[in-house]
Amino acid sequence: MRTTITQIQQMKERGERIVMLTAYDASLAALVDAAGVPLILVGDSMGMVMLGYDSTLPVTLDMIIHHTGAVMRGTQNALIVADLPFMTYQVSVEDAVRNAGRVMQVTGCGAVKLEGGVAMAPAVRAITNCGIPVMGHLGMTPQSFNALGGYKVQGKTEAAALQLVRDAEALQMAGAFAIVFELVPQELATLITQRLSIPTIGIGAGVGCDGEVQVLHDILGLQPNIMPRHAQRFGEIGTAIANAIGDYAQAVRDRSFPATKNSSKLSAEVLASIKAALALEHPDA
Ligand code: KIV
Repeated sequence: MRTTITQIQQMKERGERIVMLTAYDASLAALVDAAGVPLILVGDSMGMVMLGYDSTLPVTLDMIIHHTGAVMRGTQNALIVADLPFMTYQVSVEDAVRNAGRVMQVTGCGAVKLEGGVAMAPAVRAITNCGIPVMGHLGMTPQSFNALGGYKVQGKTEAAALQLVRDAEALQMAGAFAIVFELVPQELATLITQRLSIPTIGIGAGVGCDGEVQVLHDILGLQPNIMPRHAQRFGEIGTAIANAIGDYAQAVRDRSFPATKNSSKLSAEVLASIKAALALEHPDA
C-alpha cells in the first residue's frame, strides 16, 4: 500500500518531518523507496538533471509520463508526485484538468505538482475536483525563471512576501494537499507554514517547513560539478561511478575482464562437430 496524501497531512499534525526526493528512473527510485522516503517527485528538473537542457522549459508531458511510469514500476511504497510541465496547465483550466488526468491515468501516479499561486487556484480546484491530488509550488518557480529574472530567492520585500502568503492561502483553499516552497527566506517560509493546515515542503526555504525536498542527484553528488547552495552532499556517488568506469575500462584493456567465468561453455563434442562441418565447407582452409 502506497503512502496516501492523508498520511502526509497527518505527519504535519504529528510534527513529524516529511522527507521528499526526486527520482526519474526505476532503479534509483527503487533505492529511494527502499530507504523509506514516503514522497517521490518526478520533477521537471529531469530536463536539466537527466536530459542536458539548461532549463525545465523543454520538458514535455510525454517525457513526464515516460519517467513517471518508470518510477512507478520501480517503487511500491512511496506516493509518487508527477510534475506538470511548462505550458501543460497555464493556458486554460480545461488543459490543466486534461493533462493532469492523462498523467495519472497513464502512469498511476498518486498526485501532480504545478507551479503558481492565486492565478493557478482555479486549475488546482478543478483538478482536485476530479479526484487528482495537487501539490503546489511557490517561491522560485523554475518554469517562470525568465519572468523572475533568474533563479533568485523570492519574497524578500513586504509586498512580495505578502503575495506569497496570499498565494499559499489560495492554494490551500483550492484544495492543494501540500505546497513546495523553493528559495524563500526562512522566516517567511516558517510564518506561512504556521498559518497553513496543509504541509509545506522546503527547498532552500530554511528549517521551518514541515518537510524538505531535494534533487536526488544533488545530494548524491551524481553531477560532481554541480552543487546548489540549498543542497548538501550525502554521498560522492558521481566520483564512485567515474572510478568504477575507469576500473572497468582498464580491465577490458588489460584483458583482466571478462574472464572465462563470465562466459558460457560449449561442449567439446559440439565444438568438434562445428569444426568438422566448417572444414567440409572449405576443405582447403
Ligand atoms: O522539478 C523539481 O525537481 C522540483 C523540485 C526542485 C521541487 O520542482
